[in-house]
Amino acid sequence: MNDHETDRPAMPKPPRDRVLIFDTTLRDGEQSPGATMTHDEKLEIAGLLDEMGVDIIEAGFPIASEGDFHAVSEIAKLSRNSVICGLARANFKDIDRCWEAVKHARAPRIHTFIGTSPLHRAIPNLDRDQMAERIHDTVTHARNLCDNIQWSPMDATRTEEDYLCRVVEIAIKAGATTINIPDTVGYTAPRESADLIRMLIEKVPGADEVIFATHCHNDLGMATANALAAVEGGARQIECTINGLGERAGNTALEEVVMALKVRNDIMPWHTGIDTTKIMNISRRVAAVSGFAVQFNKAIVGKNAFAHESGIHQDGMLKNAETFEIMRPSDVGLSDTNLVMGKHSGRAALRAKLKDLGFDLADNQLKDVFVRFKALADRKKEVYDDDLVALMRDQSADEQSDRLQIKKLRVVCGTEGPQTADLTMSIDGKDHQIEATGDGPVDATFNAVKALFQHNARLQLYQVHAVTEGTDAQATVSVRMEEEGRIATGQSADTDTVVASAKAYVNALNRLLVRRGQAEPGYDVKGVSYKDVG
Ligand code: KIV
Ligand code: ZN
Repeated sequence: MNDHETDRPAMPKPPRDRVLIFDTTLRDGEQSPGATMTHDEKLEIAGLLDEMGVDIIEAGFPIASEGDFHAVSEIAKLSRNSVICGLARANFKDIDRCWEAVKHARAPRIHTFIGTSPLHRAIPNLDRDQMAERIHDTVTHARNLCDNIQWSPMDATRTEEDYLCRVVEIAIKAGATTINIPDTVGYTAPRESADLIRMLIEKVPGADEVIFATHCHNDLGMATANALAAVEGGARQIECTINGLGERAGNTALEEVVMALKVRNDIMPWHTGIDTTKIMNISRRVAAVSGFAVQFNKAIVGKNAFAHESGIHQDGMLKNAETFEIMRPSDVGLSDTNLVMGKHSGRAALRAKLKDLGFDLADNQLKDVFVRFKALADRKKEVYDDDLVALMRDQSADEQSDRLQIKKLRVVCGTEGPQTADLTMSIDGKDHQIEATGDGPVDATFNAVKALFQHNARLQLYQVHAVTEGTDAQATVSVRMEEEGRIATGQSADTDTVVASAKAYVNALNRLLVRRGQAEPGYDVKGVSYKDVG
């Protein structure tokens, strides 16, 4: 049925001082190699985005795989406030599949795109006129399905100005309601970003009927500045991701543009609908499920963003917090007190602390977490916020019904190699035991896993981070594996680095097993074959 005949709310044009936030963590973010999320994780992140006031959630790329399709449709069904958008290339098959997934939403959107710069036009081998016709046909087709259509000329910032004006006009006439101007390769700079949007609004007939969006990549570290400049130029939708997740150097970070507009509203008089107190929690969750840790000095959400170590700073802060702070930690959902927990802390204190960190647990969940917390507190004198976040991440990894599970591990180390790992691992519910050697304890452990469960996956990344300070600190281990173009990341935390490594390795393997056979023939799960636009 044509959507114009339904009673769905059409997206009203927002007031001029309102900037819409379009989050693409689950599409552009998840597309970055290794950032794969499970179905449940995608649903959880979408729920948090909806709750924090994101206007439009780009939930995935439905044609890319059965898994993507299923996730987008579920997110659409569960959506409460946000518009749910899916991505589609410029062909009817992609658009139809996208509509099948998003149509369940209270407010659905189809986002269709094609590369319009000379370099991108060469890929499907279309000349300017042929591409213009393709844009007309595909946007018309999409608009016949749904009344909320976003169209993007990919690599817009390297497209000839006259051609960009021509195709934007065609898309508007064919029924696009949002025109997104992507800086696909992170090439533009702030002044140019503003001028480009301004030029399009001035020159293209019908431009004042639609919303212009900005979609910036961070290759030159200018994504946030470019997005804000585009708003100066007249854009009223910013496309962004939590923690700036995304391919290569990532996308504009949601938390940065939102807080910049809030803190510097005196010179940037636009506002968003985001509840900024939810920022820290979602940032932690995205870092956990994507396996992409947030750098310590990252703006807004980095561990050090509100830390004042130097004596001069601490002295100033004690006298007046505004001496060195332009926003309060509580503005982004950081509690002012980092109450340390320990083995004498009770269940109620743990529940309150976890709630503060964004984990609202049912009684039976709290019971399991409490057991783990006590075990951790026995090994570690002081349990900090970051320890609890790591513990919750481990808990949710263990709750997945995984095929492989570490049961017992004993490693013998010493100055004389090789090291030996004695491992018991359950495979599909049955325990298996083996001893293996290796060049170091981690290598011996990984060899033992491989001896018990043969696979051809290649280890792409192995990373260890101390969660807190001290020699009793938990180690968070991230492992990224690749098998026939499919990539999966596993994570785990433990006070024993080797145990954390073993669990992270097995976690990545489990995720690869889930991904096996999920992709539709002809479609790479992560990469997009831009060639196939027909
Ligand atoms: O960066 C880009 O051009 C994109 C498009 C699909 C909008 O992500
Ligand atoms: Zn992008």
